Amino acid sequence: VSNVPIRRIGVSTGGGDCPGLNAVLRAVVKSAVLERGWEVLGIADGFDGLLRDGNVIHLDDAAVSGILHRGGTILGTTNRGNPFSYSTTVNGEIRAIDRSDEVVARIRDLGIDVLVLIGGDGTLSIGRDLVEKGVRIVGVPKTIDNDLEATDLTFGFDTAVGTATEALDRLHTTAESHHRVMVLEVMGRNCGWIALCAGIAGGADVILIPEIPFTGGSICRKIRNRQLRGKKFSLVVVAEGACFRGGEPVYSGLGGGKAKRLGGIGQRIAEDIAERMEIETRVTVLGHIQRGGSPTAFDRVLATRLGCAAVRAVADGRHGHMVALRGEKIVTVPLAEALRGRKSVPARGELVRAARSLGVSFGDEEG
Ligand code: F6P
Repeated sequence: VSNVPIRRIGVSTGGGDCPGLNAVLRAVVKSAVLERGWEVLGIADGFDGLLRDGNVIHLDDAAVSGILHRGGTILGTTNRGNPFSYSTTVNGEIRAIDRSDEVVARIRDLGIDVLVLIGGDGTLSIGRDLVEKGVRIVGVPKTIDNDLEATDLTFGFDTAVGTATEALDRLHTTAESHHRVMVLEVMGRNCGWIALCAGIAGGADVILIPEIPFTGGSICRKIRNRQLRGKKFSLVVVAEGACFRGGEPVYSGLGGGKAKRLGGIGQRIAEDIAERMEIETRVTVLGHIQRGGSPTAFDRVLATRLGCAAVRAVADGRHGHMVALRGEKIVTVPLAEALRGRKSVPARGELVRAARSLGVSFGDEEG
C-alpha cells in the first residue's frame, strides 16, 4: 500500500472490446472527478495512445454523459501494440521492439499519478510488467469469456450469454420448421462458459466445450435418440475452442495480437454429422455480434461497481492490484496473483451436472 497524494489519474481500455467498458469509464470518471476532485486523462487506443503524440483527452463529467448503455469504448482499443514487443518495420522488415521505457516516460510526462487499466489477461500482464518498471497501476478485469480465475465474473459475459441465448431461440424455431440440426458456434477462447450458459438458457440438446472432448458418434447418438422420440430437429452449441477427442482446436487465421484466431469447429461438426446421418445441417457463427451492442443491466451494475472500486483502490494506495468480484464483494487482488490462472469450466461441476440431468449431451461417453 503506497500513500502518494493523487492529483491526476489516467484511464485506458486495452484488448478486445466488451459490453460494459463505457460503464466502467463512466464510473471511474464520475467517482474520481465528483467524489475525489481528481483530474482524469483518457488514453486513446490502449498502449498505442501512449506511444503517439496527442491521443490523450481530458475526461470530465460531461465527457462521460450518455455512455452508460453504449457498447464498445469511447476511448478506442487495440489488441496490437504490446509496448514490450512492439511491431515496428525496420528496413522493410517487421521487428518486435521494446518500447516500454517510452510508455513509462510518457506516463510520467503527462503527470499521471496512477493508471487505471481496463483489460483482459494480455493487457493486464503488460500492466504487471509496467508495475515492475515503477508505474502505479490499478487493473479492472474485462472479457466476455469469463475465464479469469481471480474474479467470479467479468462484465460483458452476461451480455454475450444473452446474445447467444437469443440466437439459439431464433435457431430453435427455424430448426423445428425445417427438421434440421442447427449448429451455433460461440466465442470463449479455450473456455466453454458462454457455450455452457447459453446452451442451458437456450435449451440446446448438445453442448460442446473445450473442457470436455467429444466424438461425432456421441453427438449423432443424441440426435438419433431425439428422432426416435419424435423430435425431428436438434440444437448444437459449440464453443470456438472445443475439439474432437484426440483432435486439435480449429483456427481461422491470425487475430489482432497476431495470436492464432479460433474459428471453424462448427463447420467441422456439421460436416461430420452430415457424413454420419441423413439429416440437413446448418451452421451459424455468432462471432463479434457477442461483443457488440448494449450491455445488460447486470453488466452495467458490475462494470459500475468495478469502476468505483478501482478509484477506491487508487485512493487507498492499492497500486499493482486488480479489482475483482468474489461472492457478493468487490475485493482487490495483486496483479501478479490475479494473472496466474485461467478459469475453465469444471467438467464435473454443478453446471455441467445440471445440464446432464436435463438430458443435454456433451458429446462424450456419458451421453
Ligand atoms: O477474448 C474475447 C474474444 O472475443 C474471444 O472470445 C475471441 O476468441 C477473441 O476475443 C476474438 O478476438 P479478435 O477481436 O481478435 O477477433
